[in-house]
Amino acid sequence: MMQISNLHVNIENKEVLKGINLTIPDNEVHTLFGPNGSGKSVLISTIMGYPEYEITQGKILFNGQNIIELSIDERVKLGIGISEQRPPVVKGVKLRNLLELLVSVKLNDDSFMKEMVSKYDIEKFLERNINDGLSGGEVKKSELFMALITRPEFLILDEPDSGVDPEHLKKIGAMINEILRKETDKLDTCNPLVRNSGLIATHSAVILDYIHTDKAHIMMDGKIRCSGNPGIMMEQIRAKGYDYCIRCQQIKQEISL
Ligand SMILES: Nc1ncnc2c1ncn2[C@@H]1O[C@H](COP(=O)(O)OP(=O)(O)OP(=O)(O)O)[C@@H](O)[C@H]1O
Ligand SMILES: [Mg+2]
Repeated sequence: MMQISNLHVNIENKEVLKGINLTIPDNEVHTLFGPNGSGKSVLISTIMGYPEYEITQGKILFNGQNIIELSIDERVKLGIGISEQRPPVVKGVKLRNLLELLVSVKLNDDSFMKEMVSKYDIEKFLERNINDGLSGGEVKKSELFMALITRPEFLILDEPDSGVDPEHLKKIGAMINEILRKETDKLDTCNPLVRNSGLIATHSAVILDYIHTDKAHIMMDGKIRCSGNPGIMMEQIRAKGYDYCIRCQQIKQEISL
């Protein structure tokens, strides 16, 4: 479970996150909406521990442990995985090298990995430098493939649907659902509520046609302004914008108090 409380973050002495409170329980996947520059990627990068983001206040608890002092690799080892909005190109490192490092086997010697590479059509990227010259949709697929073989307990996706055509979107959706599927006993796999948890930042929300998310939040100017049902909130944002959606959710909350 991820629990973020009163998180304030500075970049170059300017406050970008202004007191984020966000709880994502086990088995839940949440959506993060918000206009350009509202702080979604900064929040995600801060959860991962990227060094340019300075936490001035607050806590990030993962399964009860405050992770803010941990390095990126320690967070990954705890089970937090990410597919970035704009992952870097890594010249001189082939995708094959990185995958073999992640799974500690030679891809050609392992029947499971051979099957996965073929099933998700990754063969053609294996000898390429990581993300080098890949199209927008291909980058997403290659990133998700790494998450698929490492199966993080908490999956963070930053704009998984940007730059992806409708046909590939369906495949990306299937990959994400597979990453979220928990490897448990046979009885539990029949229960759709048993799955890994995660956070998905998206503008267009088209990916939500393929992935069920339990709750959505709107981030604006470094704060979470409202939370509610992802489908209803997306309809309100599409019809009349973020401010309208925030007002509707606030009115709903006042009525229920
Ligand atoms: N490394 C950085 N140096 C300076 N400013 C930064 C840096 N990273 C982010 N910012 C600023 O922080 C603010 C929030 O950016 P962020 O990338 O989180 O927005 P976002 O909500 O993800 O937007 P988008 O929907 O366009 O992806 C922006 O004003 C951005 O310019
Ligand atoms: Mg972003």
